[in-house]
Amino acid sequence: MGERTMKKNILCIGAGYVGGPTMAMIARQCPDRRVTVVDINEARIQAWNSDTLPIYEPGLNELVRACRGRNLFFSTDIARGIAEADIIFVSVNTPIKTFGHGAGYAADLQYWEKTARLILQHATSDKIVVEKSTLPVRTAAAMSRILRTGDSRVHFEVLSNPEFLAEGTAVADLTNPDRVLIGGADTTTGKAAVAELIALYSAWVPSDRILTTNVWSSELSKLAANAFLAQRVSSINALSALCEATEADVTEVARAVGMDSRIGPKFLKAGVGFGGSCFRKDLLSLVYLCESYGLQTVADYWKQVVCINDYQQTRFVATIVQAMFNTVAEKRIAVMGFAFKADTGDTRESPAIRISRLLAEEHACVVVNDPQALANARRDLTDLGDRITYEHDPYAAARNADAIVFLTDWQEYRQLDFRRIFQSMRQPSFVFDGRIFLDRQELFKIGFNVYSIGRPPLLQ
Ligand SMILES: NC(=O)c1ccc[n+]([C@@H]2O[C@H](COP(=O)([O-])OP(=O)(O)OC[C@H]3O[C@@H](n4cnc5c(N)ncnc54)[C@H](O)[C@@H]3O)[C@@H](O)[C@H]2O)c1
Repeated sequence: MGERTMKKNILCIGAGYVGGPTMAMIARQCPDRRVTVVDINEARIQAWNSDTLPIYEPGLNELVRACRGRNLFFSTDIARGIAEADIIFVSVNTPIKTFGHGAGYAADLQYWEKTARLILQHATSDKIVVEKSTLPVRTAAAMSRILRTGDSRVHFEVLSNPEFLAEGTAVADLTNPDRVLIGGADTTTGKAAVAELIALYSAWVPSDRILTTNVWSSELSKLAANAFLAQRVSSINALSALCEATEADVTEVARAVGMDSRIGPKFLKAGVGFGGSCFRKDLLSLVYLCESYGLQTVADYWKQVVCINDYQQTRFVATIVQAMFNTVAEKRIAVMGFAFKADTGDTRESPAIRISRLLAEEHACVVVNDPQALANARRDLTDLGDRITYEHDPYAAARNADAIVFLTDWQEYRQLDFRRIFQSMRQPSFVFDGRIFLDRQELFKIGFNVYSIGRPPLLQ
């Protein structure tokens, strides 16, 4: 594609977990494009421009440093960004609605709609508008309708290009994506816009991994992919309960099942359930969509995936209470790991939030430790005040504790000196492994009573 026709200026509205890393990757892979990321949140933009980025992801610091100030810019000047851009990615948050019709299920599209209106207000030349956020199927139609209400000389072409990166491996996922999905209209302008986006990604993504579909399939595929991933987690978690009742071992069952090439081994790890900003939200959005189209049985099917996830957390707390002689009142319980998974500081929808709250309700003295997520944990549990304490040092968290409860499988936890921890704890001492990642025989030998999800406990 010649210099004159290449869409050089790229804007991303929303500098979050998706906007920041994806745009940094585009900037690195396409040094001839100018990539700007804007946000209404000034503190967040300041952080992106500082040495302490607003989110933690392995490899992200290096990636941002390689292109920031060269062809990657972070700014709060949204109007200017829109005016100068050729391609506008929209990566704003689409949380669960907390009010009115569809509260607790539907996606809250207010940030999304505000962005559409901002684009309309400040655009003076043709734009390709790309949905990066995860949205209910047919949202692009609403976007197009809003954008068509303005100056008819400016043409907006709306594409869907959902993001499949996983937090904790965002940089690796962006470097080597399983697929890039682009949904566009089957019109001349639609096809031209899709070609522009293909040209952008082709800088580093092999062409057989760039998939094009119609807009609705693209929007729905993102919800469907998250629903399938969450469903696998809930399936193995449902079986973990049966394993505990029958002395089957869920890790053995998962291995045997996963070796079936039709099923495969990934996402078959039992634990305290999925967290993160997306799975629950996207499942509930799917449930709401199905209900809106009168597909109640389909809605009920997907809703059950969320129910099992909630059940797994209450079940885990019930196991803790029961194991500790049916009371944890005034007992010190160290919660190790608050991030919803390892290698991220993100705690949105983390199972640790619910589990810590349930333990506090049982009047346990909960001490939270996490290598990256303590600040977020404090915010998530702020209403519990002094009933929760926070400790940077895992050894200090475990000191005088009756139990240590592992909720995130951080690598550093595997390397803890458990003998030292055991000696500093009250006896009898308990380990509850909510992620089945510790060497339970080793812990048992040291003297712990060891409970891990879906496996028979090892009791002294
Ligand atoms: N986090 C993930 O792992 C992930 C993965 C794939 C897809 N997604 C989807 O991507 C979207 C963004 O997710 P995220 O995790 O990056 O969210 P986030 O909350 O981290 O970031 C969204 C940003 O958008 C900004 N914003 C909101 N309204 C704005 C406006 N009018 N103008 C400018 N900025 C505005 C917010 O201030 C915030 O910084 C969501 O739809 C999510 O479902 C997330």
